[in-house]
Amino acid sequence: MTLERPLAPLRAEGVARTGDARVPRHVAIIMDGNGRWAAKRGLPRVAGHRAGAEAVRKTVRAAAEAGVEVLTLYAFSSENWRRSAEEVSDLTALMRFYLDHELASLKKEGVQLELIGEPEAFGPDLAARLQRAVESTRHNRAITLVMALNYGSRGELAKAAQTLAVKAQRGEIDPASIDEAMIGAELQTARWPELDLLIRTSGEVRLSNFLLWQAAYAELIFLDTLWPDFDAASLTAALGQYAVRQRRFGGR
Ligand code: IPE
Ligand code: IPE
Ligand code: MG
Repeated sequence: MTLERPLAPLRAEGVARTGDARVPRHVAIIMDGNGRWAAKRGLPRVAGHRAGAEAVRKTVRAAAEAGVEVLTLYAFSSENWRRSAEEVSDLTALMRFYLDHELASLKKEGVQLELIGEPEAFGPDLAARLQRAVESTRHNRAITLVMALNYGSRGELAKAAQTLAVKAQRGEIDPASIDEAMIGAELQTARWPELDLLIRTSGEVRLSNFLLWQAAYAELIFLDTLWPDFDAASLTAALGQYAVRQRRFGGR
């Protein structure tokens, strides 16, 4: 599927596109509810994941049009390996299919693809395709789409701790100097703006090991909508809710 019309190049390099504080610069979504969407229709779970991929397309376009700079999507958690081998293999096949069929339109629409998590675990073939997609969209500026693939926030934090410990052991840093900024800088999200808004679909009210550190002051929105039913209007409504929230960051 291609987008109906190309996204306007809304953002000058490195500059917030709208400058409007009511538009979140960085939005993350826990895309949950594919299985229940399929079950409601008497379909296999994979049909829900397929429908979920459609929702991804719509959401990326809508987020870019709204002026969101970074959209981070939780597609596969480090805990999702607990699912059946069949479901994991379906999800892997779907990622490959999405990449093969969407890369051209991602490029055309100016979407820069980035990854967090440890996608190497999906095997060298998919990992190489993902890497090529990242490379070939590197200069795109309409929106940054960060796919969280085999991502777990505690694992990410543990790795950051390891890296800092090694630096301390080598004498490159003083352990007493380790502060929030240094930890944040070791996270995979370091190069993007702070997370402003975190949305979870499907009625579950938990973070499921997603962006625990990054969500410290994010606004949270939990929706009953199942992910495959999420669309541009759902995103617009969520952005509308965000726009009227009062963010205080501990101040008054
Ligand atoms: C989210 O939908 C997709 C992934 C976690 C990969 P689920 O597959 O978790 O759907 P439910 O929660 O079972 O409905
Ligand atoms: C969170 O959904 C992970 C993704 C959406 C990729 P899950 O369905 O895996 O989360 P739990 O198991 O309900 O917490
Ligand atoms: Mg789920």
